[in-house]
Formats: sequence, C-alpha cells, structure tokens
Amino acid sequence: MLETVKYLIGSIGPSGYGSKSTAEQVTETSPDLRSLTAIITGATSGIGAETARVLAKCGARLILPARSLKASEEAKARIVSEFPKSEIVVMALDLSSLSSVRCFVAEFESLDSPLNLLINNAGKFSHEHAISDDGVEMTFATNYLGHFLLTKLLLRKMIETAKATGVEGRIVNVSSSIHGWFSGDVIRCLDLMTRNKSHYDATRAYALSKLANVLHTKELSQRLKEMEANVTVNCVHPGIVRTRLTRDREGLITDLVFFLASKFLKTIPQAAATTCYVATHARLESVSGKYFADCNEVSTSKLGSNPTEAARLWSASEIMVSGDSNPVFY
Ligand SMILES: NC(=O)c1ccc[n+]([C@@H]2O[C@H](COP(=O)([O-])OP(=O)(O)OC[C@H]3O[C@@H](n4cnc5c(N)ncnc54)[C@H](OP(=O)(O)O)[C@@H]3O)[C@@H](O)[C@H]2O)c1
Repeated sequence: MLETVKYLIGSIGPSGYGSKSTAEQVTETSPDLRSLTAIITGATSGIGAETARVLAKCGARLILPARSLKASEEAKARIVSEFPKSEIVVMALDLSSLSSVRCFVAEFESLDSPLNLLINNAGKFSHEHAISDDGVEMTFATNYLGHFLLTKLLLRKMIETAKATGVEGRIVNVSSSIHGWFSGDVIRCLDLMTRNKSHYDATRAYALSKLANVLHTKELSQRLKEMEANVTVNCVHPGIVRTRLTRDREGLITDLVFFLASKFLKTIPQAAATTCYVATHARLESVSGKYFADCNEVSTSKLGSNPTEAARLWSASEIMVSGDSNPVFY
C-alpha cells in the first residue's frame, strides 16, 4: 500500500529520482556521452525511441537496428530534426531470427566501431501462438533469445572497448515487473509452449520471456565478474505505459483497461527514465546484476534471483543458439 502511494505521488528514492522522473531529468548530471557508442534495440517506437532521443541529446553515437529500415530511418529523422549533430546509423535486425542477429553483428563489426552501451529494449506481447524460424516460441525468441545471442556476439567488442578507453561498458536489459507472475519450471514451460499450441497463454509467455531477461542479467553479471571485464549488466522495469506493445489487442476493451489504469500509467519520457539512468548515471559505476524500477534498485521475484535457474537457462540458451535444428531444452 505504502509503495503504491509512493509510486502515485512520485516519491523520490535513494537515487534522487522516482516514478515521475523523466529520461531527460535523470541524464542532466550524466557525463558527456559524446565519446560513447550505443546500440539500442526497438528504438522505432515507445520506450526505445525516447531512450534513443535522450541518449542522442547527450551526444552518444547511436546504432539503431530494426526489422524495418524505413521505420528506423524515420526514427533517425525524428532525432536528427531535433538534434542535427546526432550521429546515427540504422541497420536491419529481426530479433526473432538468430540468422538475422548474426548478420546484424557481422555488419556492425564491419564498421570497426567501438561499443560502450548495449540496450536490449525491443519486445513484443504476442496474442497469437507463433514459432520463430529457429523453432522457438515467438515471444521468448524475440524478447529473450535474440537478445541473448546479440549480447553474446557483441560482448568481446564491449570488453575490448572498455579496456581500450578505460570507460565502463554497460548492458541494460529491459524486463518487466510481470516477470514475477511466472512460477514453475522455465525450460519445461518454454518447451511445452513451443511444441504445443494448446499450452500457449500470451501473458504467461510474456512473463516467462521477461523472467528470462532477469535470469540472463544475473548469470551474465556473474560471468563478467569472473572475467574481470569492465562491463556491467543490469535489468529494468520501465513502468506501465501505453505504447505499441499492445498493438495485437487494440480495441474498446484495451481502451477501457488503460482508461481505468490511467492513474498508474507513466508517460513515455518517464518510462524511458530507468533505462537511461542505469545506462548512464555515474552513481551506478561498477553496479552489476541488479534490477531497477522507478530509477531505484528493487528486488526481483524469488525465481528471478535463483542462481541455479539462471545457470540452467544459460545452458539451454547456448544449445538453442548453437544451430541445433531440434534442440532438446532439458
Ligand atoms: N509498455 C509497457 O507498459 C512496458 C512495461 C514493462 C516492460 N516493457 C518493455 O519495454 C520494452 C519496450 O516496449 P514498448 O512498450 O516501448 O513497446 P513498443 O512501442 O511496441 O516498442 C517495441 C519495439 O520493439 C521492436 N521489436 C518488436 N519485435 C522485434 C523484432 N522481432 N526484432 C526487432 N525489433 C523488434 C519494435 O519494432 P517494430 O517497429 O518493428 O515493431 C519496437 O521498436 C519491451 O521490452 C517491453 O517488454 C514495456
């Protein structure tokens, strides 16, 4: 109850920010980002578009990968019209396809660019059951598995950049508080939903994918520490905001739900704040493996903080991205 009141009034937490802080406000004291290069997935709309706009405002050089080059050119044009000196490169990437992720990384590497920030923001909430080209349930494939492979393939570049520049690299995984709705066996549930349409439940699939983002953060931070890499990884809940995420469910009922929930909704600039805070704020130097909401560290679900589950998901993910055409998940 107290937490809800704090949220509604925008009470400031230990970070100095709260639920009503905007992405521009949390980056006001950030170091100059002009020497940094950031990849932001899902920047064609919603939270990712605002994250890109604000990081461009701070001077970061942006790589905006998207399924539609037209949509990412439009996103770029919007930013450049506001900040004409922005340096933005658009590229093709469909996160639901592992081969598309590999092609994107090859194209990015051909630029011979440094990489300081990786913001794994793209996401979907799929009403209908679908299977990716790689034979994996589509929400999981897009929200988690594509980002798992993307991060894995870009990690060496991030570690090298951090070493060469002395500037800490940061990875931000955009998850959701809905990850706490999932209980049960992660791998078994994924397997059932992938193989059998009747086991598909859109909300459960979305919650599972967002739990996977949390577990990925946990395991990756552990591995980065063991490697003594000057790169951190954290995950965030952006808050609830009306974006194109609910595009599959547009209609009167969705309008009504959003109307009834309007007091609890954030604006898009507020929803991009936690990502921008975690990606840039000096206070988070060396902070890794944590979960943030309203720009403050909070606890994940019990399952989300389970190291055994995190390691198990990592091993299954390695198999899934290995190219095995009929992966055995468990
Ligand atoms: N909105 C909320 O209330 C809320 C709450 C908690 C967490 N989140 C998380 O916040 C993140 C951003 O969501 P949003 O609310 O800003 O939604 P959005 O407006 O629908 O943006 C999603 C972005 O992801 C991209 N995307 C979807 N599928 C993709 C694919 N296969 N390959 C590459 N890009 C893909 C979309 O690109 P296209 O233009 O190609 O569709 C779009 O740019 C998501 O991870 C979401 O789960 C949102």
